[in-house]
Amino acid sequence: MKNGLEDVIAAETQLSDVDGEAGRLVIRGVSLDQLVATGTYESVAKLLLDGLTERQFDAGELKAWLGEARERLFAHVAAADAVLLALPPVDAMRALIARLPDGDDFDTALRLLAAPAVFLPAILRLQAGNTPIKPDTSLSQAADILHMLTGHRPSNEQTAALDTYLVTISDHGLNASTFASRVIASTGAGLTSSVLAAISALKGPLHGGAPGPVLDMFDAIGNKANAEPWIGEALDRGERLMGFGHRIYRVRDPRADALKGALRPLVQTGQVDPGRMSLAEGIEAAALTILRERKPGRPLDVNVEFYTALLLDALGFPRAAFTGVFAIGRTVGWIAHAREQALNGRLIRPRSIYVGPLPKVA
Ligand code: CMC
Repeated sequence: MKNGLEDVIAAETQLSDVDGEAGRLVIRGVSLDQLVATGTYESVAKLLLDGLTERQFDAGELKAWLGEARERLFAHVAAADAVLLALPPVDAMRALIARLPDGDDFDTALRLLAAPAVFLPAILRLQAGNTPIKPDTSLSQAADILHMLTGHRPSNEQTAALDTYLVTISDHGLNASTFASRVIASTGAGLTSSVLAAISALKGPLHGGAPGPVLDMFDAIGNKANAEPWIGEALDRGERLMGFGHRIYRVRDPRADALKGALRPLVQTGQVDPGRMSLAEGIEAAALTILRERKPGRPLDVNVEFYTALLLDALGFPRAAFTGVFAIGRTVGWIAHAREQALNGRLIRPRSIYVGPLPKVA
């Protein structure tokens, strides 16, 4: 038995490949660098879903359909009552998605791509005592998320930064939430069920729940000079540094650089405090030095969540919502994997080894 199923191959996929030794991510034959340089959320969604749904489409059509779907889904925000709004944002978003019909068809997929993008900004506004903002069908998914969050048209740099984030996190091999999505799909349950299971797996701090605590760490450290002592003491207490380490990567997570690159235009145009970026770089350098000393046998480097924290904070998302934004971007990967599993796979049903007591022999 392999605890944590480490190195166990549990699916064959054409969707994405994570090379942990080389620090490389490929999505349907395209490297992350290329995707970030040329892609948009809509074009990567087309790339991932191509041939896996009954409808053929291009990125322009998808952009228009997503706008219409967001508009239709806005009516569901009215179901966000006081009980739902008392939940953490990702749980409240999951509860609204759970009201949507299940199915395997393109319309269900489209609804699921649009739903978190509408629900999360609306929930955040309601939780802050503000009125939800109606979607603008003319905008891209990234621009409309920011518009629904703030009520203003985002700057080009802000839209580009969120678009890069959504592209960067769209898919990533057989991570825990994607595996959960495939397990559900393998039983013949619909895409809504797969996405709900995947959100539930994502929210844990070892997977998609890390960027909020990364920001807490930035705040607790406060200035570069404090980075080394703070990190040393945290490790002395047996804590893990959020935003570092990965099950697959033995080198730097390539998504960290994609997101750092997305932050640069915001820093250059004064939309992110350069001091914040410099603090992050100082913390990263100190953490890498100390982790190398303390864990010489285990290569530990920065992962996707480290610069995610800075980026989503800069775009105006509260830290409690970071996992929900991750879910907005990853839903397309979950849907693509669920469809691939449903079309090509079998029921996923591994075995366990019983190590409990045996019945007493009379
Ligand atoms: N800080 C300090 N030590 C660490 C860390 C960390 N962030 N990550 C791993 N280690 C140590 C761990 O203590 C263990 O040391 P030892 O062998 O001395 O006990 C060794 O490295 C191996 O740890 P593991 O738990 O067996 O490794 P894993 O492959 O299960 O861990 C991980 C992967 C992501 C759960 C872990 O690195 C971690 O907890 N990181 C912090 C949380 C985090 O940033 N999560 C986001 C992951 S990236 C998002 C995604 O792709 O899902």
